[in-house]
Amino acid sequence: MSTLLQVESLGVRYGSIPAVRDITFYVDAGEAVCFVGPNGAGKSTTVLTVAGLLAPHTGHIRFDGRAIDGTSAEDIAQLGVSLVPEGRRIFSRLTVGENLKLAKSLRPGSAAATRLLDRVLELFPILRERYDGYAGLLSGGEQQQLAIARALLTQPRLLIVDEPSLGLAPKYVDLVFAAFAHLRAENMTLLIVEQSIRRALAFADRVYLLRSGAIVRHGRAADLRGDADFESAYFGGAATP
Ligand SMILES: Nc1ncnc2c1ncn2[C@@H]1O[C@H](COP(=O)(O)OP(=O)(O)O)[C@@H](O)[C@H]1O
Ligand SMILES: [Mg+2]
Repeated sequence: MSTLLQVESLGVRYGSIPAVRDITFYVDAGEAVCFVGPNGAGKSTTVLTVAGLLAPHTGHIRFDGRAIDGTSAEDIAQLGVSLVPEGRRIFSRLTVGENLKLAKSLRPGSAAATRLLDRVLELFPILRERYDGYAGLLSGGEQQQLAIARALLTQPRLLIVDEPSLGLAPKYVDLVFAAFAHLRAENMTLLIVEQSIRRALAFADRVYLLRSGAIVRHGRAADLRGDADFESAYFGGAATP
């Protein structure tokens, strides 16, 4: 398997305050990797930096063998990294269809663009139903689907989704993860930030646990599933509550 994303000794600061330090991880092509960890661990900072929205203070980021630290967010997106940020950021006053058309992608109206849109709407049928309605009228779970759909229309080589299940009703969390499973079966490379350890371990090939700006544990999900230490590490080494 070839490594698609390689991050080495990444450090990121907000002003003079370090948010992450010495983060090293990789994502192989076709893999599904999850970041788990409590609030403030540095998960969002790390993925925002990979996408070029924050600048690294130290370390190196390579995508498909090419250095992308210092590359603009637009150029990184062009290379095939698509980030759905925490909080989704859809345009409420535009329709679902208009939101989707904003995704920079294939030539609008071309046969390939129509096929791609069809595939995405098959993955999220509610968006077809709501296509002409205002995005602001969608539920949180539907907005998350719209945000992911928009990212998919850019035909990413690496799809990063930051806390897709945040604030969603369980049925939508299931739906979103079912869509990820579908994408994964189609060999898309995924990096998902997820609060629930159980869900991350159930879904991912590999999991990284972040705490206080560092990776404290990582491994294959299959190996970590029965590992009580892993769960207690999430809660700071204390016994599992
Ligand atoms: N815009 C910001 N300005 C200053 N500090 C920030 C900012 N965003 C995050 N931080 C800090 O950086 C650290 C990592 O935050 P974050 O990456 O958002 O963690 P997570 O996504 O794991 O919850 C935290 O200590 C947080 O308070
Ligand atoms: Mg976050």
